[in-house]
Amino acid sequence: MSNTFTKNILCIGAGYVGGPTMAVIAEHCPEYRVTVADINAQRIEAWNSDELPIYEPGLKELVLRNRGKNLFYTTDIPSAVREADIIFVSVNTPTKTFGSGAGKASDLQFLERTARQIVECSESGKIVVEKSTLPVRTAQALSRVLQANTKGLKFRIVSNPEFLAEGTAIHDLESPDRVLIGGTSDEGGQAAVEEIAEIYTHWVQKDKIITTSLWSSELTKLVANAFLAQRISSINSISALCEKTGADVDQVSQAIGLDQRIGAKFLRAGIGFGGSCFKKDILNLVYLCEHYGLNEVAQYWESVVNINDYQARRFVEKMVDAMFNTVTDKRIAILGFAFKANTGDTRETPALAVCQQLLAEKANLAICDPKALVNAKNDLCDALGNVEFTADPYQACKGAHAVVILTDWPEFQTLDYQRILDNLQKPAFLFDGRNCLNHEALFQMGYNVFPIGKPAQAHFAP
Ligand code: NAD
Ligand code: UGA
Repeated sequence: MSNTFTKNILCIGAGYVGGPTMAVIAEHCPEYRVTVADINAQRIEAWNSDELPIYEPGLKELVLRNRGKNLFYTTDIPSAVREADIIFVSVNTPTKTFGSGAGKASDLQFLERTARQIVECSESGKIVVEKSTLPVRTAQALSRVLQANTKGLKFRIVSNPEFLAEGTAIHDLESPDRVLIGGTSDEGGQAAVEEIAEIYTHWVQKDKIITTSLWSSELTKLVANAFLAQRISSINSISALCEKTGADVDQVSQAIGLDQRIGAKFLRAGIGFGGSCFKKDILNLVYLCEHYGLNEVAQYWESVVNINDYQARRFVEKMVDAMFNTVTDKRIAILGFAFKANTGDTRETPALAVCQQLLAEKANLAICDPKALVNAKNDLCDALGNVEFTADPYQACKGAHAVVILTDWPEFQTLDYQRILDNLQKPAFLFDGRNCLNHEALFQMGYNVFPIGKPAQAHFAP
């Protein structure tokens, strides 16, 4: 290893967070050696190749510019731990699927395994940074595992949750609204916080770097996601009322969003939120509240997830209802499977729930997505029924009874909808689950258009 680097930073967990975060740190801190390690050899091999394991706009350029200079990927976790001064832990923390807390609590086995490996391989004390999203007070458990070493090594734990969103990860990391760093109040704890803050000062304004206690930092991450998801469920619940009353949910959200106290963001109605974190983090919050006996608080937050499930279910029910109460044997073109645009990620995508429900109604599906087809095939590998996958939207729509937009990919807005219409069964149905198309123009063209939270525009009485 070159000794020209002033600090060795290691990130354990080369996923959607570890990969982009470390690429940005490497870009802005050329004097630091940044290593990203993972137990998944295939993932590391991909990080070392031209086909990165995740798609994020701008990521590949960053990786290609810095890889081999001060940015490295490895499966040799013991060596990487030994050499590191600072270790970011960015392993997955999914919802527990077994035992006590199953379905709600975080599964912390990957985190604990990492902590034990750090203890085992370390020959010097280190700062260990919680980058993963964790239940509040996890740092206490982490500290107990780390301090229980027989080598007399001192570990400092810092919480530095990540707020990036997929699809805009590089932008979010380059220009964060804030960087949050939590630590203990003693001198060593504050010095560790300062050391982590110093990394970010390479490109983030000092007033955007805020420091709190460990517990506030851990809890803030869960609360931030819960508040964002709550806004989506709130507007989605109103979309159901709009459909009954003839109001237009986009007009409602625009009008309320102009009130600065409410704000315009995260008020887009759709088929519901997806992604690996919103549901998991809210359920984690619910679990914590239940654990502390705060049952009303737990129920309040759980309703955010309930409305989300209801919204996807409601969407399919509306489809079946509009298509004369049956979709059996009808070809349905599904445009978009990723949980949002600009990512290939399909974790917790509402598109899966919609497709599964349509398959249960015995529809035949033709799924098209610019980036998520591999994941879509995986997600539906056990599904019973006819499912076709294609990267060509025109092929997906050929001979279909309905076109369904499930992800707001910009490319779906500029398709030749006349060409699609010419090849659809009639009457032609279009269900816009993301309200991202020009409904009036499509109606004039001849489609029967069913948006979310607005009156349907049909050439027959719906
Ligand atoms: P991910 O599944 O994409 O990546 C996690 C990686 O950790 C995997 O590659 C896995 O192989 C690796 N790993 C697991 N155990 C390991 C071990 N013992 N040693 C080495 N590697 C190990 O997950 P992600 O989406 O990057 O999320 C990571 C954490 O960040 C989660 O807690 C998540 O809640 C949080 N988070 C995610 C996002 C997001 O947009 N995905 C945003 C903010 C925060
Ligand atoms: C979200 C948060 O935005 C990040 O701050 C956070 O770091 C991250 O979770 C995490 O902890 O994992 P992400 O899930 O990547 O990021 O993407 P979002 O842009 O938040 O979208 C989540 C879901 O909500 C998507 O399915 C999206 O389509 C949906 N959404 C979003 C709406 O339905 N309406 C909106 O107005 C906004």
